[in-house]
Amino acid sequence: MDVSSYKPKGRIEHKHLLNLLDYSTADIYEILHLSQSLKTAFKRGKKHEFLRGKTLAMIFSKSSTRTRVSFEMGMHQLGGHSLFLSSNDIQLGRGETIQDTAKVLSRYGIDGVMIRTFLQSDVEELAKHGSFSVINGLTDDFHPCQALTDVFTLFEHYGKLNGIKLTYFGDGNNMAHSLMLAGAKTGMNVCICSPKGYQPDPEITAAAQKFGNVTVTEDVAEAAADADALYTDVFFSMGQTKDKAKESALMPYQVNSDVLGMAKKDAVFMHCLPAHRGEEVTENVIDSTHSIVFEEAENRLHVQKAVMCLLMGKK
Ligand code: CP
Ligand code: NVA
Repeated sequence: MDVSSYKPKGRIEHKHLLNLLDYSTADIYEILHLSQSLKTAFKRGKKHEFLRGKTLAMIFSKSSTRTRVSFEMGMHQLGGHSLFLSSNDIQLGRGETIQDTAKVLSRYGIDGVMIRTFLQSDVEELAKHGSFSVINGLTDDFHPCQALTDVFTLFEHYGKLNGIKLTYFGDGNNMAHSLMLAGAKTGMNVCICSPKGYQPDPEITAAAQKFGNVTVTEDVAEAAADADALYTDVFFSMGQTKDKAKESALMPYQVNSDVLGMAKKDAVFMHCLPAHRGEEVTENVIDSTHSIVFEEAENRLHVQKAVMCLLMGKK
């Protein structure tokens, strides 16, 4: 069944959003449908304070514009409260353990913690020891909130997801991993086009392949052919140091007008942002009419609100 014909129930049986591996197709469809109705309510100026009295703590060990502002604004619009906790300013940054941090935050009645950090295991540890919902706001391995937003943006654009071909070019990083999972579980054909040495983690790829149609190739022309959406991300993710070898290996995977010309005529260009024009994408692609990068950025707000409502709202 495609997302367009799914009848939402208004709930999912999860406390956390850690990596999407344990989310079913129906769980993702629930998030997409609620995102759509929250977006409509927001655009019409209709009150939707479904999290009145709830508090979200946001722990950041890496920089952020979109994730921070959309979670903070989202919580405000839902009638709740948010706390920005930079790891530089809390004791976590001075070596207090995740386990102790989880236990302390639980004592204050925190309802949810959004965490952006390095190790996926830290996110899982937080969920294990806290009494609150945990939302992964990006780790070295996954970026589920962004990938859910991207499938939502494609659903809005195409009115369906089944059979849509999404090709991701470049580093086989956290974005590639989460797009494979979200795309496979929603009936899309996901193609990852990366050079040897920079392809996605084989275990995550194999897991995603169990859920749907996921291929990995080094061939740019084959990857771009018939694509409905071309996606790319930075050569160097947060926490990685620049190196020439990686830059040279990834440069042939740049999304430029030649690559766009190999895709379907009306193909869209996508990027989680922030972007480096002239590296993973050229200016004439990201700033063209094919680009839906600011729709993606906007939709972070609506999708995150849906995730928070489903995880932290009344069951
Ligand atoms: N795409 C994304 O997560 O952006 P930020 O790093 O600005 O949060
Ligand atoms: N892969 C990038 C995504 C940023 C939103 C990073 O981890 O820095």
